[in-house]
Amino acid sequence: MERSQRFVLDIHVNGEVRSVTIRVADTLLHILREQLGLTGAKPGCENGDCGACTVLVDGWPIKSCIMLAVEATGHEIITIEGLKDTPMQKAFLEKWAFQCGYCTPGFIMNCYALVRIHPDADDQVIQEWLGSNICRCTGYEEIQEAVKSVLAAQHPSNTRTS
Ligand code: FES
Ligand code: FES
Repeated sequence: MERSQRFVLDIHVNGEVRSVTIRVADTLLHILREQLGLTGAKPGCENGDCGACTVLVDGWPIKSCIMLAVEATGHEIITIEGLKDTPMQKAFLEKWAFQCGYCTPGFIMNCYALVRIHPDADDQVIQEWLGSNICRCTGYEEIQEAVKSVLAAQHPSNTRTS
């Protein structure tokens, strides 16, 4: 198949089936932003290092800059646009877990997956998960506090919010 050849496929995004026209080398990040208008996932390093482009694929945080769009077929993609009004999004606001906000969608996606996959996450697990994302402006402490507040709300006996 020619690299420039285009073809149509369906992608499941945020609970909808969206039809896109892609080239074989198009990344999922490129298609989300340029064809579907879902610009919450950000291009940062575009090399798999910073996490600004993180989306959920079948519930797992994946860096969409290093995933081909064609690989998304048959999987459920969730972007930050699909997490509107979720507890994690609200926690980031309440804990002031951002400054410029460029990295924030990626962090929220990653943290959203964290509290679902590891509902009993301790500080070490939280730090390991946050290690996949980079923030250039703020400290990571507020982000950890946001995660802990959601964990505490999931388990009212958990008192790790302070
Ligand atoms: S833009 Fe994808 S990891 Fe940095
Ligand atoms: S808030 Fe600016 S890069 Fe993270």
